[in-house]
Amino acid sequence: MYRSHNCGELRIADINREVTLAGWVQKSRDKGFMVWVDLRDRFGITQLIFDESRTSTSIMQQAKGLGREFVIQIKGSVIERESKNKNIATGDIEVLVNELTVLNASEIPPFTIEDETDGGEDIRMKYRYLDIRRNPVKNSLLFRHKVTQEVRNYLSNLDFCEVETPYLIKSTPEGARDFIVPSRMNPGQFYALPQSPQTFKQLLMVGGLDRYFQIVKCFRDEDLRADRQPEFTQIDCEMSFIEQEDILDVFEGLTRHLLKAIHKIEVSKFPRMTFDEAMRTYGNDKPDIRFGMKFGELNAVAQHKDFAVFNNAELVVGIAIPQAASYTRKQIDELIEWVKRPQVGASGMVYCKCELDGSYKSSVDKFYDQADLSKWAEATGAVAGDLIVVLSGPTLKTRTQLSALRMEMGNRLGLRKPNEFAPLWVIDFPLLEWDEDSARYHAMHHPFTSPKQEDIHLLDTNPGKVRANAYDLVLNGNEIGGGSIRIHDKETQALMFKHLGFTADEAQEQFGFLMNAFQYGAPPHGGLAFGLDRLTAILGGQETIRDFIAFPKNNAGRDVMIDAPSPIAGSQLEELSIALDLD
Ligand code: AMO
Repeated sequence: MYRSHNCGELRIADINREVTLAGWVQKSRDKGFMVWVDLRDRFGITQLIFDESRTSTSIMQQAKGLGREFVIQIKGSVIERESKNKNIATGDIEVLVNELTVLNASEIPPFTIEDETDGGEDIRMKYRYLDIRRNPVKNSLLFRHKVTQEVRNYLSNLDFCEVETPYLIKSTPEGARDFIVPSRMNPGQFYALPQSPQTFKQLLMVGGLDRYFQIVKCFRDEDLRADRQPEFTQIDCEMSFIEQEDILDVFEGLTRHLLKAIHKIEVSKFPRMTFDEAMRTYGNDKPDIRFGMKFGELNAVAQHKDFAVFNNAELVVGIAIPQAASYTRKQIDELIEWVKRPQVGASGMVYCKCELDGSYKSSVDKFYDQADLSKWAEATGAVAGDLIVVLSGPTLKTRTQLSALRMEMGNRLGLRKPNEFAPLWVIDFPLLEWDEDSARYHAMHHPFTSPKQEDIHLLDTNPGKVRANAYDLVLNGNEIGGGSIRIHDKETQALMFKHLGFTADEAQEQFGFLMNAFQYGAPPHGGLAFGLDRLTAILGGQETIRDFIAFPKNNAGRDVMIDAPSPIAGSQLEELSIALDLD
């Protein structure tokens, strides 16, 4: 038996108990006649004491030789501590050691294994197994486990059946880029790793499974950000004989359950917002509604004066930054520089101070009088003491820029509180979005999403206006899930592919398996997938998903610990019938 107790377990009631513990040396203090060692395992820290007057000389010697991160086993008796440590659960006791075995020595770790470490991101990723010993990372993984378990229980109780779908599938041209796997047995042919199990879960509905879920790895070869990894995990779900309302109901229930089980927070019915409204009022399809600063469109009140910049713009739009009228010229200039950074891309910013005496002072006073500016205040909801900032230009671009500024100000002003949770359904997404590069429409969600019945007639005349039965679940300004009601008949699916620019043959070749299945009695169905990494991070009060993933990739898509991706041997390439010419 390696241990009788773990390192977080012993209490005052255990005094005089003979125990065996095993773990890592967190640190040791050698006072000559006494040595204290903090012994750590996943469950906590227990203080060990080696005392010259009570411990044998040979063990005393051994104790003095212990280094950080040595793995040891000890036997000893639990005694009461003289100076108690209120900060740890075992702080009332210590273990007087009478037997010590070094199970494994350790090199000096490349960074300190403490909550606040001296190790930078790169080194921590290289030695991720050491990073995982640190409480913040370890606790994030335990937290993820709890979220996952709650999800499994909740869905299982509602008769959802967990089914595994294949990882070696067919590459399709829709969506992000695929990760490709060559097939040795089929020279010149390739599998793709799934971007999501979308078509399989639909086929499970055709198979009559009725309610499916899977906690599943998905793979997307796209540019990485704090909330994106090339391999990530979805809680993927699908239901039969349902309408949009049923889906929203079930997954709102799941989210509410998680908030309650994890944070003891009760949330009433989630608000809903159409995509159009989200774009108009927040410039964003995943608005953070924990704070205001809603957009005020100013075309009607700011155009047709002598200010050419606004007159020539498709959209003039502003927000009121609370209590920022007192900003100095320098602070405002810094904001202007901020919106002009290439990452945001605005060409400039107009501002108007709403002074405490009720007057207005703007950067464009030459063109606008007090009455004009009071209309800006009205449209943006500004009150005395606020600073109105205004951007102008092409509609979508300008909204995106102002949204970036709004989020930045939300962060700077501390309005995005990590322990406050504001879920939101965004509904009625457009079915299609225009892609400049390929000069064609793409499915905004995916090609299996059903158009709204009442909009189908617009497919030929105004495809961009067709709305879909598609919805996203947004939490604190992050898209944590998305889904749709699916097309379940061959004709509509074929029509959809036609509008996405597929010939009938191409559609048949790529997605024939699905359309054929629709000919054998496909039930009406729909579903949703949560991003588990994102959901967990946000429930954990963070927006970076990396620390909630045991072995994440870095921003270049590399695993620096195992050094992947890496070249493979010529013989392996040959076996796969792949000829590389990298010149
Ligand atoms: P979607 O593409 O919206 O939908 O993905 C669902 C959710 O997965 C998360 N997500 C990611 N998380 C981390 N890294 C990534 N690279 C990444 N990409 C997506 C997001 C997102 O909301 N098959 C459909 C779902 C459906 O229609 O049922 C799908 O995959 O939180």
